[in-house]
Amino acid sequence: TWNPASLKDKLIEQIRVTAAGRKVYFLVSGGVDSNVAYALCAQALPPDQLEGLYVDTGFMRKNESEQLRLAFARLGLPNIRIIDDSQRFLDAMQGIIDPEEKRQRIGPLFIEIQQELVGAIEHENQNWVLGQGTIYPDTIESGGTAGAEVIKTHHNRVPMIAELAAQNRLLEPLQEFYKDEVRALGEALGLPQDLINRHPFPGPGLAIRTLCSDQHAKAMPHDGIAGICREFGLHGCVLPLKSVGVQGDNRSYKNVAMISGPAALETLSQVSTRITNGYQEVNRVVYGLDAAIDFEALRVHDALLTSTRLDVLREADAIAHQILHDHGLEHQVWQFPVVLIPVSHGAEHPTGNQGETVILRPIYSVDGMTAEFAKLPLPVLQEMAQAIRQLPTIDLVGFDISNKPPATIEWE
Ligand code: XMP
Repeated sequence: TWNPASLKDKLIEQIRVTAAGRKVYFLVSGGVDSNVAYALCAQALPPDQLEGLYVDTGFMRKNESEQLRLAFARLGLPNIRIIDDSQRFLDAMQGIIDPEEKRQRIGPLFIEIQQELVGAIEHENQNWVLGQGTIYPDTIESGGTAGAEVIKTHHNRVPMIAELAAQNRLLEPLQEFYKDEVRALGEALGLPQDLINRHPFPGPGLAIRTLCSDQHAKAMPHDGIAGICREFGLHGCVLPLKSVGVQGDNRSYKNVAMISGPAALETLSQVSTRITNGYQEVNRVVYGLDAAIDFEALRVHDALLTSTRLDVLREADAIAHQILHDHGLEHQVWQFPVVLIPVSHGAEHPTGNQGETVILRPIYSVDGMTAEFAKLPLPVLQEMAQAIRQLPTIDLVGFDISNKPPATIEWE
């Protein structure tokens, strides 16, 4: 049988053999895999033979880098070096609206920065190995197993890494394991739950949760949706929004149904299913957590990716997750994206900024392939909404009540 505790000793021995007295520079991301792999290395090697490297893209959540540093320090793991490249990532997003283009720029920039890091290491110390938390599915999805097709190339499976492997300068202690095995190993290592059972977080981070737009549009009445809503004592309209994720096509014009009025979760679930089953042009349903929405006053406006918008989203995300934690509901959801969309409600803000909407997207899932909107208590969601509405420029807070399919988990 598979026994993480006995495996641990074997892995530690392998790390010592591969490192062979050389210094290990380990790329940590804050995710489960690299946390566990780094902790394994720390048990295998003396502190002066290991250093963690963490690239801050500026698209991470509030205090993420600092929390990681503190968590590792608490465990007595060697210090991590934080490389702040947030300005470069933000510059790469200048004028970009299309979600795919965002991804196509962020991935290669990340690889470029890794390449520079390797160059800098070489300069500093010639006796080195690069470590990373690659797991088996990363290799499969990148087409790295015989006869496999490429699903998506992971940044830990690019040519530079293959070259390092050929030079015997690569250390990947978890490359044969699956995620659940990695979690079990993490437990055998005595890592705290908050490092092992983290919610998944996309590589491009908040960049794909800050929706951009080059359009101006009003909410549109929709007889069918209004009819369904009326049966339940609700109101509904449609917001035309570009770049809202729908399976198999992330780019075309998409419609979001906005519904409003007093309702119970069970009703919301029925309304959501009725709308997405009945109208293929609508792939997402959002329930307004505000007492009343004036559909006439809803506007989609233009917006780019700026540090100001990222900061607002970072705050909203931190507020939602703090309240989730305070109610002990963290482990009831599989993931909880918080999304900023350029939709205003009412007048311009005194600052001259256009108002925006925050979407709460807590979901239940097993593997992310399908998902159901999380039936969190409405009073808890309303508490989040009330706190988030205090942020400057936030007009509305909505609760995404769509399932995957037809929607996706992320909005881009
Ligand atoms: P969707 O939105 O496709 O998301 O339902 C499924 C899962 O994948 C994550 N996701 C990403 N992860 N880079 C990543 O590393 C990405 O570009 C990306 N896009 C989506 C998403 O957070 C969810 O867990």
